[in-house]
Formats: sequence, C-alpha cells, structure tokens
Amino acid sequence: MILRTPESQVKIAPSILSADLSKLAEQVREVEAAGADRIHVDVMDGHFVPNITFGPVLVKWLRPVTKLPLEVHLMISDPDRFLDAFAEAGADALIVHVEGANHLNRTIQHIKTLGRKAAVAINPATPAVMLEEVLPDLDLVLAMTVNPGFGGQSFISGTLKKIAAIRRMIDAVKPGCELEVDGGIDHDTAPRVIAAGANVLVAGSSIYGAPDGPTAGLKRLAQAGGG
Ligand code: DX5
Ligand code: ZN
Repeated sequence: MILRTPESQVKIAPSILSADLSKLAEQVREVEAAGADRIHVDVMDGHFVPNITFGPVLVKWLRPVTKLPLEVHLMISDPDRFLDAFAEAGADALIVHVEGANHLNRTIQHIKTLGRKAAVAINPATPAVMLEEVLPDLDLVLAMTVNPGFGGQSFISGTLKKIAAIRRMIDAVKPGCELEVDGGIDHDTAPRVIAAGANVLVAGSSIYGAPDGPTAGLKRLAQAGGG
C-alpha cells in the first residue's frame, strides 16, 4: 500500500500523441473533467527521434481549451532554438533532453529566464549521473521508460533501477523536484514506477487508446496508483 499526503499524491499527464486529433479540444476537455493534472505535448523533429509531430502553433490553439498546465516534451535537437516560441505559445513547462542539448546549463537558465518550469528528460540508455550537475536547477526530471519517438511501445523494466536512483538523488539534493515517467505506463506498470519513486505519470495509449474511452482509461490508471 502506498501512503500519500496531498503533496506527495501521484499526478497524471495524458499525452495527446495518442489522442484523436480530429477532435483534440474535446479529447483534452474530457481528460480534464476526468481528473487529469496536466497535458503532455510531445514535440518531435524527425532528427533527434525518428518521427515528426507538433510545433508551437498547436500549443497556441490548445492553450485556451484547458485550464490545465501544458508541459511540452521537446524531443528535438538543439532545443534552444524553439524555447521562446513554445513559451510564447503558452507552454507552462519545457522539457529538454540531456542528450539533445549541447549546453544543458545554458538551456535550463534560458527556460528559467522565460519564467517557465525547467525540466530535463533522460533516455533509457543514459545513466542517472548525467543529471547530477543540473538537478539543483530543475523543477522536474522526466525518466523515459521507452526510447522516445512513438506512442504505444512496451515499458522497459530495466529503467526501474534508474528511477529509484534518480529518486534518491532528488530527495538528497532537490526534494521539491518532480519525478515523471513516460512510455508504456498503464495500470500494470504504474504501481511499479510509483514504488520506484515516480510521482508524475505520462500516459498516451493507456488513456487515449483505451477501448472503453479516455475517461475510463484515466480512472483505471488513477486506481492503479496515479491521481
Ligand atoms: C514517446 C512520448 C510519450 C508517448 C507515450 O516518445 O514521449 O509521451 O506519448 O505514449 P505511451 O503512453 O503510449 O507509451
Ligand atoms: Zn513524452
């Protein structure tokens, strides 16, 4: 059993990558009404990852649709080029990859200058120690539990050990920093990542791909430990 105080309650961030984009506003409003805590927007450039998705214009149109915070996961090379545009469009948090930024400290300072939450994502193959120097400046760490690029991939259970290591680092250095996980999160894997120390769950296909619909998918995830 997981004991939780309001502050430590696990949060859910539905990823619109798996939403029906022909009715995006409706799909976002549905998860908001069902109790989602934030909306996760996956940005891909066809270079850092082998897929292309959304740009700042989507965030601009999404912004008035929901009161929930919009977190933008930048799976792009050299993210500095687009920070201003996503902040201007209405992003509340900007998540950049350890592997995609040449000067990560500069990138994080840039995000802070824009007044947005600064977050760093780390791929399954990258060791937790890569976060050590930047952790004191972060609002959130995103541990990838699949290789980024596509929704609907299987959870990599080898990442659990690293999630636990990052949790220990956060508790020692920056207790307020959130620990989010992304990829293959469903009612089965959620309890495992929460036990390892995650407190924010990104979920695409287990919510928007749920056969009984996004509300049921989100509630199933919440019952499994998130939300
Ligand atoms: C993957 C993206 C994820 C994706 C997760 O590269 O970063 O946010 O939407 O999708 P699921 O939950 O289907 O694994
Ligand atoms: Zn993502």
